[in-house]
Amino acid sequence: MKRNVIFCFSGTGNCLDLAQNIARGLGNTDIIMMRSAPVVTDVRAAERVGFVFPCYGGGAPADVLKYARTIQVSPTAYTFGVSSSASYAGTGLYELDKIIPLHYWRTVTHHCSCIWLFPHTMMLPLLSVEKAQRRSEKLAQEIAFDVATGKVSDKRPPHNPLNAAENKGFGAMLAQKAKGFKVSDACIGCGQCARLCPRGNIRLEGGRAVIGTDCAQCLGCLQFCPKSAISLGKITDKREHYHNPNIRAEDLMQTVIEFK
Ligand SMILES: Cc1cc2nc3c(=O)[nH]c(=O)nc-3n(C[C@H](O)[C@H](O)[C@H](O)COP(=O)(O)O)c2cc1C
Repeated sequence: MKRNVIFCFSGTGNCLDLAQNIARGLGNTDIIMMRSAPVVTDVRAAERVGFVFPCYGGGAPADVLKYARTIQVSPTAYTFGVSSSASYAGTGLYELDKIIPLHYWRTVTHHCSCIWLFPHTMMLPLLSVEKAQRRSEKLAQEIAFDVATGKVSDKRPPHNPLNAAENKGFGAMLAQKAKGFKVSDACIGCGQCARLCPRGNIRLEGGRAVIGTDCAQCLGCLQFCPKSAISLGKITDKREHYHNPNIRAEDLMQTVIEFK
């Protein structure tokens, strides 16, 4: 095991790109993907253990907290958390801190991946994809420096009760929301969405994707579809699709990504 470990959940690549840039800054790092159950959970040999994940509906994706409960960290390890969101970080880091107390945490805003809610350009502050990307890369360098030098945050992560209530409601509506997925005749049955889905919720039938209701709302299927054949409500047909410019669907399918 490397000296540093970063657990990463990412639907459309912003968090994976961020985690990779932090790992490059730190060196000697394994990124362990936690889109599905992580393949490594005992990281007691690591000196620094981090988590990078997005804000979904006011908090952490439920799977992030579920998998975090399975992870064994050395009591002497330095721990850190980074949450990416379009505008507000929500309660994800606060909830993670209750499971794995964090020495250091940061929040980062990037383009919005929730295509049914907002166009991706609705990130706050408003920035072009290129500028948001440069900003994220600069923040990753700062975070890597802080982590390498053992910086400790002087406050606990934020806990806004409104975000907490929003996140509770969000979890409850996931299956209902997923009933709205449509696959158009543009589908070529390439199967990328099925391979990418962290919950195994997509199958191919008669050369066409069929999407079930066990959905984490990561929206990777929709945002990476090479034919834009997947929609989730009429508005998503009209909006430009978005995924992080540096990340391909295959990158998200890896289980462990090593940085020397
Ligand atoms: C289903 C869903 C819900 C989201 N909810 C929020 C939210 O409550 N607040 C926010 O600021 N951003 C929200 N976002 C935006 C993401 O947190 C943001 O785009 C993040 O950078 C995505 O990271 P990823 O590309 O690694 O998946 C949401 C995105 C999705 C897909």
